[in-house]
Amino acid sequence: MVNLILFLIILVLLALSIFAVFYLLYLFRTGIPFVPTSKPVAQKMVELAELDAEKKFVDLGCGEGTLVRMAGKSGAHGVGYELILPLVWLCRGANRLQKRPIEFRTEDFFQAELKEFDVIFCYLWPNAMKKFWTTFEGKLKPGARIISHQFPIENLTPEKTEIVGKSKIFVYRVPATSP
Ligand SMILES: C[S@@+](CC[C@H](N)C(=O)[O-])C[C@H]1O[C@@H](n2cnc3c(N)ncnc32)[C@H](O)[C@@H]1O
Repeated sequence: MVNLILFLIILVLLALSIFAVFYLLYLFRTGIPFVPTSKPVAQKMVELAELDAEKKFVDLGCGEGTLVRMAGKSGAHGVGYELILPLVWLCRGANRLQKRPIEFRTEDFFQAELKEFDVIFCYLWPNAMKKFWTTFEGKLKPGARIISHQFPIENLTPEKTEIVGKSKIFVYRVPATSP
C-alpha cells in the first residue's frame, strides 16, 4: 500500500515536472505568461465588443478559454488561439459541455489570417502588442474592433478606454486605411 502511494506521488510529481518544463519552453518562445483575465474584466470586454450572431471574434492567446466562452454566449462565431496544449484541452473540454459556436486552435496566432474577424480580443505583453501591430497592420478587417486588456497599441489612438478595478481596457477600431 505504502509503495503504491509512493508510486502515485512520484507519478504526479513527474507529470507536474513535465508540464513545468513544457510551460517554461512555451514561455521562452512567446515571452507571455498565462495570466487569465478576471471575470469582471472579461465581462466588460465582451460588453464592449457588441457581438451578435452575424459577427466573428478571436482571442489571441486564449488561455483556458473563459473569455471565448463568455463571448460565445452572444451566438457569434469565435476562435481561440493558444500554444499551450493542456490549456487547449481544457478549452475544448469545457465547450463540449456548453456547445457554443466556438473553436480552439493550437496554433501561433502570429501565423494566422485575421481578416475575417470583427472583434479581436487580446491580453498580451507590451512587446507582443508591438509585434501584433507591426505584423497585422493593414491585414485586418477595416472597422474591426481590437479590445486589449491592460496593454495599449502604440501609435494608435483608442476609441474608448475603460477601467475595471485595477485593469484597463483599450478599444480600438482598425482604420480604413493604414495610418
Ligand atoms: C496573458 S494570457 C491571456 C489569456 C486569455 N486571453 C485571457 O485574457 O484570460 C496570454 C496567453 O497567450 C498565449 N500566447 C502567447 N503567445 C501566443 C502565440 N503566439 N500564439 C498563441 N497563443 C499565445 C499564452 O500561452 C497565454 O496563455
